[in-house]
Amino acid sequence: RTYRLAVVKGDGIGPEVTEAALRGMHAAARRCGFSLDTADVDLGAERYLRTGEVLDEGTVSALRTHDAVLLGAVGDPRVPPGILERGLIVALRVAFAQSVNIRPVRLYPGVQSPIRGVTAQNCDLVVIRENTEGLYTGGGTLAHAGTPHAVAVQNSLTTVAATTDTVEFAFRLAQERRRRVTLCHKTNILMHAGQLWQEVVDQVALRYPEVEHDYVHADAMCQHLPLDPGRFDVVVTDNLFGDIISDLGATVQGGLGLAASANYNVAGSAPSMYEPVHGSAPDIAGKGWANPAAAALSAALCLAGLGEREAALCLEAATASVLAELPSLAGPGMGSDTAALGERIAARVMDVDP
Ligand code: NAI
Ligand code: MG
Repeated sequence: RTYRLAVVKGDGIGPEVTEAALRGMHAAARRCGFSLDTADVDLGAERYLRTGEVLDEGTVSALRTHDAVLLGAVGDPRVPPGILERGLIVALRVAFAQSVNIRPVRLYPGVQSPIRGVTAQNCDLVVIRENTEGLYTGGGTLAHAGTPHAVAVQNSLTTVAATTDTVEFAFRLAQERRRRVTLCHKTNILMHAGQLWQEVVDQVALRYPEVEHDYVHADAMCQHLPLDPGRFDVVVTDNLFGDIISDLGATVQGGLGLAASANYNVAGSAPSMYEPVHGSAPDIAGKGWANPAAAALSAALCLAGLGEREAALCLEAATASVLAELPSLAGPGMGSDTAALGERIAARVMDVDP
């Protein structure tokens, strides 16, 4: 069969890593007997600077007809912060009801974590982040801006519906893994949202009696995650905490160039979107110094989301196998440029044993 894939390469290193990841993805499709029909979608800084438009209804409708969306990264020093990140990425997550964000934190064998004591044996967890609510809804006001009386109010929204989707997803995933869910929040300070989260976890847990659950404060998580990742299997958390601790997770697993994510539409009512955790990295764009692993591992999550499990495992294993050979995980020290690494991953897909 053929899957229809919308590709938003985006800005900076976005096109470089996405093209490399697509090479690996096509190879996995070839190996497993299906094909990918890709369509480039022009979104990001270039289009915004050219037309003044970030995201229009026509593009959203066009994206909706695809089986999945693959995104590189958006963001550009010439565009004020927030316009693309909020106007595009957050807007697409909301438009396509991608209520769950999946961020695996796994140290692959042969990859060196910058944190002493972290090994492939003790670092294999998944952060499940609520993806459409919390402080990211954007509501609020800034009164008297630029004066000594300036006051900002930034609203945070938490609904039982989106929280339940997220927590349910976390428990279902934990059941297939090591059967442990950790709620990460700040229930002692953010008491309203915190209570709602804890109640949802307690409710959902009743339906998964084989899955253990516990609780860790978000600030304490910043110590436990790097020093003792082995105590976690599935961590479920809100939008902001999830954003922060998954970047911490990215560091633990070898850096932003290795961290993958999926924005998941649980109901299947719109496409899910797959993207590396990193941004457009303007500091290294155009140099071939970007590690394409994060994009390739996101593409593997995409294949899994499409139901092509074998292809997903092949692409993940091929990426891990190439990573293990790199003298350095980013920059000129990688020994090959981004495009060459994409070719190496694609070649490896054909003979790896997943
Ligand atoms: P960034 O993730 O782009 O870069 C942070 C650091 O990590 C830089 O030193 C960069 O060179 C390095 N890095 C990132 N990806 C790498 C890779 N694949 N291989 C090797 N090194 C890599 O974050 P930064 O600099 O804060 O943001 C740059 C732009 O990207 C901003 O406009 C930001 O808003 C945007 N952004 C977009 C995201 C998205 O599209 N989902 C996510 C995060 C940031
Ligand atoms: Mg982030």
